[in-house]
Amino acid sequence: MFDLAIIGGGPAGYTAAERAAQRGLTVVLFEKKQLGGVCLNEGCIPTKTLLYSAKLYQNAQTSSKYGITLDLLAFDYEKIVARKNKIVRKLNAGIRAKMSENNITVINGEAAIKKATTHIEIVCNNELIEAKNLILATGSSHVIPPIKGLDSTSFWTNTEALEIKSVPESLVIIGGGVIGLEFAGLFNTFGTTVTVIEMAPEILPGIDSEIATLLRTEYAKKGITFHINAQVQEVTNQNVIFATSEGTESIAANQILLSVGRQPYLENLGLESVLLERFHKGVAVNLHMQTSHPHIYAIGDITGFSMLAHTASREAEVAINHLLGIDDEMNYGAVPAVIYTNPEVAGVGATEDALKAKGNKYQVAKLPMTFSGRFVAENEGGNGLCKLIFNEQQQLIGAHMIGNPASELIAIAALAIEQELTLEQFKKLIFPHPSVGEIFKETLFSL
Ligand code: NAI
Repeated sequence: MFDLAIIGGGPAGYTAAERAAQRGLTVVLFEKKQLGGVCLNEGCIPTKTLLYSAKLYQNAQTSSKYGITLDLLAFDYEKIVARKNKIVRKLNAGIRAKMSENNITVINGEAAIKKATTHIEIVCNNELIEAKNLILATGSSHVIPPIKGLDSTSFWTNTEALEIKSVPESLVIIGGGVIGLEFAGLFNTFGTTVTVIEMAPEILPGIDSEIATLLRTEYAKKGITFHINAQVQEVTNQNVIFATSEGTESIAANQILLSVGRQPYLENLGLESVLLERFHKGVAVNLHMQTSHPHIYAIGDITGFSMLAHTASREAEVAINHLLGIDDEMNYGAVPAVIYTNPEVAGVGATEDALKAKGNKYQVAKLPMTFSGRFVAENEGGNGLCKLIFNEQQQLIGAHMIGNPASELIAIAALAIEQELTLEQFKKLIFPHPSVGEIFKETLFSL
């Protein structure tokens, strides 16, 4: 009998397997597709690889602003996708190597719970495997909304959008969330006419709305068309029809990308044989990632909230620590969120919108990113914003940014929130000069 069985080999599952094996537990990991999950195979890594090519291309297009003249500029999208595939293969091999170095048994197949009492019985490839504990890490799948005509129309999700060999002439993106905006930036850079249809009053719901508006403005300048407060009513292979307060509009589309969210993946998991408490569409867990069955944990997108790879890997550590009797719990207040647009958007902790809605008192310090000399040096004509939010005790409770490299800088604010730093303590941190991170210091001293 294994000490631990894990179903799902994405960032949640493979991190849990590695941490558990490093602490001496015997581990079996079931994965029906490729190790690495959505994040490595059709999410975080492939999109960031493509977006890096887009960033290089965009930098080359604007290089004359920096005194560099290029006579011939072109891209080969097939090569860009081939490089993406190479990166995914390389990282996939890395995960497989880690599993084997740690003596983790990896079984390729779809696993289901057969029985869960004082230990767990799992069936995979018609074989019965027993374990003292189980971690469910099966991730999430695309939400396909009940839009008229969708069942008879060809459309992409992020999965198909990553595999194309040439860019479409025009693209209508339904859903202006994280996936929608990252692909909007990618295809806009490579010359596609992009339209984003978002039903909420602003793109990127959940992100600080001032920052989201700045990104929309920036992207509109690059030629992306946005329809917010817009409800898609019908799609066909030629058109997308949507309604706003001003009436119904129809736009032509060579291609549609559907990105209206993801939901926990619970299919064929054998959940009928063990009654786990549910939370919305996911599996309910406590702050140790334990489900209502004491020997079953759930981590990653399957819980239905904070569907992010870095949340998943931290949840994996918390679950393993709890299993080993080490005191640890999840803190969702310090999970950074990044949207890899160009300029990048990042945030951590409370937003002004949420604090206002709750009626909480707070103080805001904000400065344009141009208060950082390094930012000015590297972003000719670029805008950006850094916004820090403090509670009544003057502790940092939120940080939100737009401007490169927000994806790297946000971890500093996450650390400050995790460590409950006050304004005065945060001010004492020394940043290298010149660095874009100095924007934190400038913003702190502006209060
Ligand atoms: P999302 O939840 O970020 O955005 C979905 C958007 O679609 C929302 O703005 C919503 O208001 C809108 N919407 C929903 N129904 C609609 C309709 N019928 N018509 C028009 N708009 C509609 O979901 P998304 O972008 O699909 O991403 C899925 C998950 O993947 C998210 O949980 C996200 O956090 C994660 N992800 C994270 C990334 C990152 O960390 N950089 C990158 C990509 C995805």
